[in-house]
Amino acid sequence: MIEFRDKVAFITGGASGAGFGQAQVFGAAGCRIVIVDVRQDALDSALARLLETGIEAHAIRLDITDRAAYADAADEVESVFGGPPQLLFNTAGVNSFGPLENATYEDFDWILGVNLQGVINGIQTFLPRMIASGRDGHIVTTSSMGGFEGSATAAIYCATKAAVINLMESYAITLPKYGIGASVLCPASIRSNIADSQQTRPAHLATNSGFRSDEAFIELQRRLYNGGMDPVELAEHVQRGIENNDLYILPFPETKEGVRAHFEKILDAFAAPDSDPEGARRRARAFEEYRAEAAKTASSIK
Ligand code: NAI
Repeated sequence: MIEFRDKVAFITGGASGAGFGQAQVFGAAGCRIVIVDVRQDALDSALARLLETGIEAHAIRLDITDRAAYADAADEVESVFGGPPQLLFNTAGVNSFGPLENATYEDFDWILGVNLQGVINGIQTFLPRMIASGRDGHIVTTSSMGGFEGSATAAIYCATKAAVINLMESYAITLPKYGIGASVLCPASIRSNIADSQQTRPAHLATNSGFRSDEAFIELQRRLYNGGMDPVELAEHVQRGIENNDLYILPFPETKEGVRAHFEKILDAFAAPDSDPEGARRRARAFEEYRAEAAKTASSIK
């Protein structure tokens, strides 16, 4: 079983919701916690609550879309804790709802920037440092059940969440040789503050939106998320997921049949297997040849 004691855990979005739940659970398991968040006031109160319960914790204000600031945050972690984190939690995320056809470039840039580029920035910043440290580690990215299927009104969000599922599948293939695990957490609904995401939207991306952000709609979302899973319970699923080295962490069994129906639709769309047997054999041979050569290239890079 993985030993959490004294491991440094870096948690984006750690001041609220799912990220704060992770800080509490992994802190209680003995990790040294770094919470980062774009909201200083939320960071201050989250840090105070962690310290009150005897958790060793450090807070850094960071906008995860800012690569230079991310590198500075990584340097700060190394100077405070003597090395890079062994556990990286890409948890920060934002949402905004509205009909896809109304979306502006600003809507795309904000949501893609935080939910996809922010995750990439986290991994690009820390992975070389984690590998160089020579220690075991684990990266957990928070996606969403929304990442398994398109949506009329949360389309940009779902596209980012689909992208990070796919990305973590690839890291789960490439990272084991370094002793680093990869997991993707797909929640359905969390009791969190995500309904208030608009508060963190930067001014230059806030002036032109095709989506709804009026108080009545935000209040409706608050009620929706109030019924969600407690972030501590969710983080306990993450802890078990890391212990089992699970790629997929799927704590919401009530969503399983929907996923099955979605993938069955995809499977049903395939052409009949006997439609072009010679072509299929030819393509398979070419693909095998390519894969063998590509694998040699990948191992020579390491
Ligand atoms: P939350 O709003 O309570 O926490 C997210 C935190 O991320 C906030 O403290 C916010 O200030 C921070 N943040 C936003 N933009 C940032 C940036 N550019 N740089 C650094 N920090 C930033 O929301 P929640 O629900 O806890 O969200 C955590 C993750 O869970 C997100 O990735 C979200 O997409 C995902 N999720 C949430 C669900 C829900 O029902 N609330 C369902 C499925 C997935």
